[in-house]
Amino acid sequence: MNLRALLLASAVSGALFSVGAQAAELTIGFSQIGSESGWRAAETTVSKAEAKKRNINFKIADAQQKQENQIKAIRSFVAQGVDAIFLAPVVATGWDAVLKEAQEAKIPVVLLDRDIDPAGKNLYLTAVTSDSVHEGKVAGQWLVKTAGGKPCNVVELQGTVGASVATNRKKGFEDGIAGASNVKIVRSQTGDFTRAKGKEVMESFIKAEGGGKTICAVYAHNDDMMVGAIQAMKEAGLKPGTEILTVSIDAVPDIFKAMAAGEANATVELTPNMAGPAFDAVIAYKTKGTMPPKWIQTESKLYTQADNPMAVYESKKDLGY
Ligand code: AHR
Repeated sequence: MNLRALLLASAVSGALFSVGAQAAELTIGFSQIGSESGWRAAETTVSKAEAKKRNINFKIADAQQKQENQIKAIRSFVAQGVDAIFLAPVVATGWDAVLKEAQEAKIPVVLLDRDIDPAGKNLYLTAVTSDSVHEGKVAGQWLVKTAGGKPCNVVELQGTVGASVATNRKKGFEDGIAGASNVKIVRSQTGDFTRAKGKEVMESFIKAEGGGKTICAVYAHNDDMMVGAIQAMKEAGLKPGTEILTVSIDAVPDIFKAMAAGEANATVELTPNMAGPAFDAVIAYKTKGTMPPKWIQTESKLYTQADNPMAVYESKKDLGY
């Protein structure tokens, strides 16, 4: 290639993909939901560590559970001209306007751990999430198997109202128990993914269900709410893990501690490392123009008391949960 052709080629490819851009040059803003759960805290810690590994200038804005704060943070990242924006959307709706602003500024957005409504699909580059319908289904199927045909009244602690993972985990669980007429959800209420609300709502379920005597199982959309519910059951003189079955989602260290003590039965793991695959997708997109798949799916694994919960607790306890 002669010099003129070479200059032309590099100008064209430079304009398209910022050829030669290295992770060290990238600045990425992350609009994080807050710190409602142990899982969320771990996701923040792991994201920072993954950014450091790749030498990325990483800016985190904590929205304290408020969508309006997330919208402000995205606008501020757009104004700063960051190279990409990560968004963990607290709820599924209400993103169109702000994501269009990011798109007009040619800033790719990556969704982490939660989805937005399918109508917004063209407004983000990729989503790194688990299959949250599947998580609920795994929990429901585990319960059907464990109840073994006996009548089983279930109380459900839902996540944040309007969050994709709450809607999906509810649906998945209902699918999982659909073929078992002995397993029924008798009460269902949001505990907003927090330990304190999980405990409070469980206390009201216990009161409403004859001191808890008519409850066979608790299904919680996350482990933190289950840890709160376990506390409520113990304070009411009930025996979670034996008299009342428990199944929840996240696989945080404290649920393994409860499992090791015989006070919890099962959890479905959600990896806190959503940012690692997201950084790699953005780097490949920025440096080579590689389009990532629209959905980068993370694994979901069921753990029960048979999986040496104390060893799992030890392996996870220092990971930032
Ligand atoms: O979006 C993931 C969910 O958010 C986690 O399961 C829960 O703990 C967190 O609050």
